[in-house]
Amino acid sequence: GMHAIKAVVFDLYGTLYDVYSVRTSCERIFPGQGEMVSKMWRQKQLEYTWMRTLMGQYQDFESATLDALRYTCGSLGLALDADGEAHLCSEYLSLTPFADVPQALQQLRAAGLKTAILSNGSRHSIRQVVGNSGLTNSFDHLISVDEVRLFKPHQKVYELAMDTLHLGESEILFVSCNSWDATGAKYFGYPVCWINRSNGVFDQLGVVPDIVVSDVGVLASRFSPVDEAA
Ligand code: 2OP
Repeated sequence: GMHAIKAVVFDLYGTLYDVYSVRTSCERIFPGQGEMVSKMWRQKQLEYTWMRTLMGQYQDFESATLDALRYTCGSLGLALDADGEAHLCSEYLSLTPFADVPQALQQLRAAGLKTAILSNGSRHSIRQVVGNSGLTNSFDHLISVDEVRLFKPHQKVYELAMDTLHLGESEILFVSCNSWDATGAKYFGYPVCWINRSNGVFDQLGVVPDIVVSDVGVLASRFSPVDEAA
């Protein structure tokens, strides 16, 4: 049950931070095709992280982002110069948190829970995104897959959260909007919350999340504040 939870560990991209700005910049550069470009780009970016992990060939998330953008433009026959590439990739460093996130993090911390990010992003990317949004003090730990040079959903990545927080698996609630990521965390052994922001379908990989909510605010409201006077 939730009473055993001592820490909440979040995925970053799409869970706490909106990648909408990436879509709008794609649309600005490729009018009429921004949606398609950003979708293929995101899918390839993930694919490259998974392929590299399977091949034992680690390159950080920023490399996967650039490589996937080049593939996407190549395959759609779109020209993009080095400045354009740099501009689009830099969007991934200045993402906006979803509106419910800042207060939800405060609520979770007021409930006595530790908060952390466990992301496929590089150490640099995670620090930039969190710092640029002014939320550095809302997290106890920012954990990057750089430490193990493998990407989620590799099981060794999920272990990093336990090791960093010095907690057992049943004490950590793992939260992601990516159902493949929620699936990986569930197989590892964490209680899992799937943030289903856009009424999607959960992956058919043999497990289901323990909690499904529409945003992080709804999740935070399930934890009561610690009574300071008690
Ligand atoms: C993450 O932040 C890629 O969204 C995924 O790890």
